Amino acid sequence: MSLDRALTLHRNYFGVEPKVAVFAPGRINLIGEHTDYNGGFVMPCAIDRGIWVVGRIVDGESKLMSDSAGPGKSFDASNLDRKPSGWAKYPAGMAWVLTERFGTMPNIEATVVSNLPMGSGVSSSAAMELAFAKLFQALVGFESDAKQLALLGQKCENQYVGVNCGIMDQMASACGRKNHAMCLDTRSLEIEYAPVDPSLAVVLLDTKKPRALSDSAYNERRSQCEAAALAMGVPQLRDANLEQLLSKKGELDDVTFRRARHVVTEDARSMAFKQTLAAGDRNGIFALMKGSHDSLKDDYEVSCAELDAMAGAAWLAPGVYGARMTGAGFGGACVALVARDEVEAFTAHVLPAYKQATGKDGDAIVCGIDDGARILAI
Ligand code: GLA
Repeated sequence: MSLDRALTLHRNYFGVEPKVAVFAPGRINLIGEHTDYNGGFVMPCAIDRGIWVVGRIVDGESKLMSDSAGPGKSFDASNLDRKPSGWAKYPAGMAWVLTERFGTMPNIEATVVSNLPMGSGVSSSAAMELAFAKLFQALVGFESDAKQLALLGQKCENQYVGVNCGIMDQMASACGRKNHAMCLDTRSLEIEYAPVDPSLAVVLLDTKKPRALSDSAYNERRSQCEAAALAMGVPQLRDANLEQLLSKKGELDDVTFRRARHVVTEDARSMAFKQTLAAGDRNGIFALMKGSHDSLKDDYEVSCAELDAMAGAAWLAPGVYGARMTGAGFGGACVALVARDEVEAFTAHVLPAYKQATGKDGDAIVCGIDDGARILAI
């Protein structure tokens, strides 16, 4: 078990017992992609894989240990303007946003264990932020709810780590609920939890093409959306529908028009998905998820050959309800909803078909849907 691994690693490396333990999950997004920074609608689930952190308060500098990256990363909670390099930016950045909000954070000794596939677009960075938010909360005892911690995680990512992400990943990691998808309004942060029928399995189809999220391509998409909203005279694309967009077609260049068309149609698909999923409408689920993938590929241009091959293989596989790329794109993974008792036949079709199309060995992981970030008993 990963908590045991974290405890053992901590004892061996630091030679002392940690005081607290926490877990924060990764996420998989069922639908609603690249809508969160447009004030729109998303439908992620927290998964039963994520990041465990154990730790305690210490004098002197903070010291970190990780099962995958090894020891040696450190930062100083009393001088956070000196940013550490690599993954230590996440704990340091959380100390920075928490200090600003709740007063000075202490230095810590902490050990991190993750079982999230890396570079697959399941939000290891949001999980890291939420894990350290909970760790500091457990050690210091400040009052904060899950939404507030999610917003602080996003602030860490935007202002300290320097990635201009939306709020979906942090909200999913903070506020997930076991066996439920979260219908999240990313503007009001209202959540409606939608049960996912246990006869459906959520399968992560990892292309093993690391998500080279060029931050510049992500930021470019954001600016194109902002330009489209401005041209349409709405605060955000969330406030526009397809009809309005079509009426402005002549005023937008082709690329900006297609970016905006993805966002407004994806918002509509995301809202429709709630009822479609609740009704177990197999054709409806298939069409909405395929529509999302095609729109991300053709209009938003964030897919790649591997994601297209994986989704294409999944669409033809036995047991499939729906499949699409998930996360920011440019590599990473697809998500598929699959009849649970046909998962074996599904993967037996998808992985060889993917290999044939790309020459690459992909991976299929059945994900449980889990609760959000939490303090664990040790
Ligand atoms: C990344 C970002 C999210 C969201 C997705 C795309 O995961 O962190 O905020 O924008 O991409 O839906």
